[in-house]
Amino acid sequence: MPELIDTHVHLDDARLIKDLDLILARAREKGVTKMINIGHDMESSRSSVHLARTYGNIWAAVGIHPHSARDAREADFHLLEELAREDKVVAIGEIGLDYHYDFSPRPVQREVFQRQLEMSIRLGLPVVIHQREAVRDTLDILQEYAPLPYGGVMHCFSGTVDIMEQCLELGLVIGLGGTVTFKNARETKAVAAAVPLDKLVLETDCPYLAPHPFRGKVNQPGYLPLVAAEIARLKGVPLDRLIAACAATARNLFQLPA
Ligand code: NI
Repeated sequence: MPELIDTHVHLDDARLIKDLDLILARAREKGVTKMINIGHDMESSRSSVHLARTYGNIWAAVGIHPHSARDAREADFHLLEELAREDKVVAIGEIGLDYHYDFSPRPVQREVFQRQLEMSIRLGLPVVIHQREAVRDTLDILQEYAPLPYGGVMHCFSGTVDIMEQCLELGLVIGLGGTVTFKNARETKAVAAAVPLDKLVLETDCPYLAPHPFRGKVNQPGYLPLVAAEIARLKGVPLDRLIAACAATARNLFQLPA
């Protein structure tokens, strides 16, 4: 049985941390052997590192999400860089632009995004990118650093096959999660079918975006097989082959042990 790697979890979220042992046991039962806990502000970046220190099968990403960009102080960038040098920190993220909510002013979002992109290159780490309704600006900023020397993931990819191809050209891989299982996700399903098998990683983004039939419920890494099964169906490849390819891409990108 090939290993399932959940490349995007938020286990420090209050909805998950209270039942963490149970949730990790379920993940193990379902074959999820490795997880990457993703930071979105200073506090969750610290929590991610703490989880990675505590659990052998959890790694960490640290970063400031566009929602939190307005709270970033000068000292935070130094603290973040220190955190990023910790042993099991494998990426900078999640970082990017979110023009849907606009919780931070757009110029601030762009500056915080760029500073962290530069940090990732300085440290030799890949990036985990979040973008919502900001695809043009996100790709334009990434273009300045393209091809990204240490790669990255376009997390929870939403967009057309054309945008997906532009992301690949920038040196990114595509992260797909629960949304690919939603009935009305025609575009995401088309992307899943089209993306090269070696340019794809699996993610739950738990506690968010639980796959069908758990849509609307609290998501968890144990639901990752539902995502994998739907993508394998869309691509017309055996499930084991899909899982093995995604795991190989994740191990390679995040430099995870075999
Ligand atoms: Ni996330």
